[in-house]
Formats: sequence, C-alpha cells, structure tokens
Amino acid sequence: MDEIRTGAGAGHPSRAGVVAVGREVRPVAYPRDEVRAADFRVVEVAVPRPGPGEVLVRNTWTSVDAALRLRLRERAPEGYFPAFPLDQPMDGIMTVGEVVESRADGFAPGDTVSHASGWRDYAVVGAGSQALGGVGALTRLDVRDTPPQAHLGVLGATGLTAYAGLFHVAELRDGDVVWVSAAAGAVGGLVAQLAKLHGHRVIGSAGSAEKVRHLREELGLDAAFNYKDGPLPDLLREAAPDGIDVYFDNVGGDHLEAALGALRTSGRVAICGMISEYAARGPSRGPGNLMLAVTKNLTIRGFRGSAHTHLLPEVRRRLGAWVREGRLPYRETVVDGLEQAPAALAALFRGDNTGKTLVRIDGVAHRENLGG
Ligand SMILES: NC(=O)c1ccc[n+]([C@@H]2O[C@H](COP(=O)([O-])OP(=O)(O)OC[C@H]3O[C@@H](n4cnc5c(N)ncnc54)[C@H](OP(=O)(O)O)[C@@H]3O)[C@@H](O)[C@H]2O)c1
Repeated sequence: MDEIRTGAGAGHPSRAGVVAVGREVRPVAYPRDEVRAADFRVVEVAVPRPGPGEVLVRNTWTSVDAALRLRLRERAPEGYFPAFPLDQPMDGIMTVGEVVESRADGFAPGDTVSHASGWRDYAVVGAGSQALGGVGALTRLDVRDTPPQAHLGVLGATGLTAYAGLFHVAELRDGDVVWVSAAAGAVGGLVAQLAKLHGHRVIGSAGSAEKVRHLREELGLDAAFNYKDGPLPDLLREAAPDGIDVYFDNVGGDHLEAALGALRTSGRVAICGMISEYAARGPSRGPGNLMLAVTKNLTIRGFRGSAHTHLLPEVRRRLGAWVREGRLPYRETVVDGLEQAPAALAALFRGDNTGKTLVRIDGVAHRENLGG
C-alpha cells in the first residue's frame, strides 16, 4: 500500500479507490542484539478497495512470534522465509480480523478470517494466497465457541506446531518421559499440556520462579525448574533422575546439549526452534556431545509447523474440543495497540510473556473514510 507522507510537498496519494487510512509497522533497521522499538516505524498508508478475488480485512489481533527475529536479519537462515525487507510491510505474520468488503467467493462482510498480512490494521488479501506454506491462507473462522484470537494460538499455527511436533515428529509413545523447554511460552505450554493429556510424565523448564509455579500449579506438570538456577544437566537430573525419552526443543544451545545427556536409549528430539541463538551474529556452536546420538540410538528431527498444514483441521477439532471441555487451558499475554508490536517482540525475548503473545489492534480509532 502507498505510504501517506505529511509535511512540505507531500499529500495524500490519489484517493480514487482508497477506503481508509491504515497503519503498518515496518522494520527500518535490523536489530543488532535485542529487538528495539527504534528499529521500527509506524507508517500511515492509503488502503485500496479490494480487487477481484480479494477481500479487505480490518485486522483485530496480530501475532507476535519468536521466529520473527530470524527474519529481522540481513539474511534469514537458509530454507526459511526470507528476511523482512526494510521499510516494507511485514508479510507472513498470522493475524485475524473482520472482512469489511469482499470481492471473493465464499467471503462476506462481517466474516471473521485469519490470514498472514499482520502487523497492520487493514489488509487486502487474495483469497487464493497460500502464505506461510498454507497456514496463512485466507480462512473463514468459526468463532461461535472460541474467541477469534485463539486461532492465532491454540487453534492456529501455534497449536499446529505443538501437535505436529509432539505426535508426528517426536512420535510420542506410551510411557515416554518428556522434557519441554520454554514450557511457559506459547508452543511449549501447549506441548507440555498435550503430553500431560496423553498421560505422560512431563518436565518443563522456564526462566523465572513465577513461571515454574505456573508450570507446576496451573499446567499440572510433574516437575519444573528455572534454567537460570544452576547447571542445566544438574537441574534436569534432579527433575528426571531416570532420564527422558523425548525432548521438545524450543531453545537450542545448552538446553539441547543437556537433553542429549539425559535422553535414554532410542530417545527422540523434536527441534522446534532455538531461541537462544536467534540474535547470534556468527554461526552457532553445535552440541559438544552429539556423539551421544550414535551411542544411544537417538533420533533428532527438526521440523516446521508449515510442513504439517494438512493437520490443521484435526488440530482445530481435537484441541478445540479440549479447550471447550476446559481440559486445555491456555494463557495469553496481550499487548494493546498496533504500535506496541515491536515492544511485545522485545518482551518475548526477555521472557516477559506467558503463553501466546498477541497484539490487540485498535483499528477503529484510526479509521478515516476518504471516500472514493
Ligand atoms: N518450527 C516451527 O514451525 C515453529 C513455529 C512456532 C514457533 N517455533 C519455535 O518455538 C519456540 C517458541 O516460540 P513461541 O513463538 O511460542 O515463543 P514463546 O515460547 O511464547 O516465547 C519465547 C520464550 O522463550 C524463552 N527464552 C527467550 N530467550 C531464551 C534463552 N536465551 N534461553 C532460554 N529461553 C529463552 C522465554 O521464556 P523464559 O522466561 O522461559 O526464558 C520466552 O518467553 C521458538 O524457538 C520458535 O522459533 C517454531
């Protein structure tokens, strides 16, 4: 969308076909270490009418994901989604909103939809787009029993990642003892609960005493520890004296190394992410004890939720039923205001979030009808 510039010599772009003034968060510099609000700016843009096959969506909630940091670099890791271009809208971030105007079959004004044009308050979205490997395709949501933002968390890409990683990648088996890192976060919290729902002994780790309490008391995990409290191998041994069978890795680095030490013969690792390494500038060091994969017959598999998009209907059905029955409580960390999205991402990296981090967008206050 065209930016609306103000000041001498500037003015609104042609108003023909423009329905509103929207706002987009754009990166203007790649963060060097920590994500800083100063690395972004909020831009006013002219929102056009949808063309054939498109819908205009007023976004209401947008997602804040750890993996966005991988795209806030000059070069994203090979095989991943590309780096966000500077001073451009950030395409490929899950979002929900309400259809304002539709020129696409199957979508009508008032429909609640999800799509991948996030970190902005209005989006024109093509009905046929297959963003984020299909997870981000424009989708009409059933919000009769669940709030719309649940489709960014437990019933969306986060739920898919947790479900696919635990059951299809780690191939959870009866009797497995499971360790989940970043267990108080969005993906980790769901993985831990899904494993509990399937009757497993589950150990969770997180970065504060309050989160450890949350894991033990609210999520009902069998053991939990603060990874900052001492050497990880010792903390893990204390929580799982007989070892573990599955490690669901959200952190990488020293956590993965500790897991290799604790895994029993034929244990499995699902590498979902390596958040401890996302801000690193140089190549990261692999685990120093990788030979244990040979000696213990371990299986180590990395995966992306988007490779399992076909499981989304199953995830919505199964996890949706558990949510409605009250058996799968989920936490959200909600930040108000589109302009707060960068600060929310920075907070996630500091560990200030519990559960799914979301931005509630206050689109209405900024709407301006330009006619045309
Ligand atoms: N493979 C996929 O398709 C896929 C999809 C979604 C997410 N992921 C991955 O899943 C992981 C979690 O992502 P999320 O979006 O759900 O975020 P999240 O878990 O809600 O938030 C990230 C958490 O990571 C912890 N953390 C941050 N820096 C850390 C460090 N250096 N060492 C240990 N813990 C650290 C923080 O909690 P503490 O207070 O515990 O430190 C923070 O709350 C990430 O690795 C992400 O890339 C993968």
